[in-house]
Amino acid sequence: MAESRFEQQVHEVVRHFRHEKDSEAHRLFRQSAGHNKPKGGAALPQTVNPDEETIPGIEHPGSTGVIYCSDRAMANGFSYASSHEWANLGQGAPEVGLIPDAPPRPTSIPLPEDSLEYAPTTGVKELREAVANLYNQQYRQDKISQYTYENVCIVPGGRAGLSRVAAVIGEVYCSYQVPDYTAYDQVLSAFKRLVPVPTALDEEQQYRLDVNQIKRDIRTQGLEVIIASNPRNPTGQVIQGEELKSLVATCREASTTLILDEFYSWYLYPEKEEEYGKSVSSASYIDNVNGDPVVIVNGLTKNWRLPGWRVCWVLGPKNLITALSQSGSFLDGGANHPLQLAAVPLLDPQRVHEEKIALQKHFKAKRDHVLKRLDELGLHVAVPPVATFYIWLNLERLPAPLNNGLTFFEELLKEKTIVIPGIFFDINPAHRRNLFHSPCHHFVRLSFGPPLEDLDKGLDAIARVLKKAKKEGGHAFGHSYKKSVDGSSQADKFV
Ligand SMILES: Cc1ncc(COP(=O)(O)O)c(C=O)c1O
Repeated sequence: MAESRFEQQVHEVVRHFRHEKDSEAHRLFRQSAGHNKPKGGAALPQTVNPDEETIPGIEHPGSTGVIYCSDRAMANGFSYASSHEWANLGQGAPEVGLIPDAPPRPTSIPLPEDSLEYAPTTGVKELREAVANLYNQQYRQDKISQYTYENVCIVPGGRAGLSRVAAVIGEVYCSYQVPDYTAYDQVLSAFKRLVPVPTALDEEQQYRLDVNQIKRDIRTQGLEVIIASNPRNPTGQVIQGEELKSLVATCREASTTLILDEFYSWYLYPEKEEEYGKSVSSASYIDNVNGDPVVIVNGLTKNWRLPGWRVCWVLGPKNLITALSQSGSFLDGGANHPLQLAAVPLLDPQRVHEEKIALQKHFKAKRDHVLKRLDELGLHVAVPPVATFYIWLNLERLPAPLNNGLTFFEELLKEKTIVIPGIFFDINPAHRRNLFHSPCHHFVRLSFGPPLEDLDKGLDAIARVLKKAKKEGGHAFGHSYKKSVDGSSQADKFV
């Protein structure tokens, strides 16, 4: 029987691109610091420049993808000065300027004299109260058990919050799912007592947490801690309502600690007008704020669109907060004092309500625009995002080698556009024998965080690459990549 076009393409991939060794993009990745140690292989020195020895005792942990993507963008001419010529669809941050119908953006920070002192490692009491109040108002109006400031720890950013939590987890099995937020892998493995246990999510489950699977894993693997982002980076999926309720109940009954990273809790895209302004949090389903083993991490970074402020929080039982005060006292010393004070009015429930509606309308329009353009380009998104500002794009149907995330990323850099290769959302990708076997190999993450003009610039670049693929076939791609320069100084552009 004659092969279909798709089967022919699949066989072409198998013939020519069976292994990462056959791919220039993957060879470049392996040469970079922290990514050159295939599992089971001899440990190579962990250096930025392979000709240079590292200093004794220092090992690169492997960048979260952030540094790698910035190095590669810089090798292709990206700099702060030229950044306006680029489309950064790799950006893990939302646009920070004024959006239609949203309250005005903060423009100045008061500096009262006592704000020049250290703030407590758990944060300024006024802000802790404002966080507790906002959660009670948004998610717990019908509940007897209410959050107080003692359930809140202010932290200098989400990753600091996650690190503080990871530092107080004992010698237990801690489960996380792939794909998820890139930093979990490094954050969890930096704290050697806990044992990270990954589970792969797939398209059939729509890349979302499967509560039944979690129930089984708790029973069969003896999980004591589960960490997940919900809504989920990078797949844009969310569990809410009865499913989220059941997850919280499962953890309560099994005495398993559930750490939910809820940074994208406002980024929901309702179909009905009356649903604008609603957000999602496990706080809605907690019975006893000091008894249920649920830990929520959130902050100003995404929902308030203030990633530069580094003001975030962890919400949980009182005795967790005292532990986090202890880990904060040696890890980071606490969040910036003046910005904590400046954050208090931003948590006013009425202001938050207005922000949420404006944000949901604005980002929904951007999501729909990008999905429509991708569709027109023949890149149909099988599982479109219902939350966050990320699209988990499967490239499998493109001609090889454009069908793998790392090569697609390199080809778009030539067109001054940045996306994030899917393998950065995999379990410690550097330790795989063959990156081509990663479940995230065929994917890239596109962000619709940036303003619409930037999104269109990036989509135009994708259109040019696809046009070239049509005209010249797969052989036009996969080679002639520039050598990296050290770009760690600009890494923050790509979080
Ligand atoms: C799921 C998730 N959690 C936490 C963070 C980190 O937040 P922060 O920049 O405040 O450290 C991010 C940032 O990309 C994220 O996507």
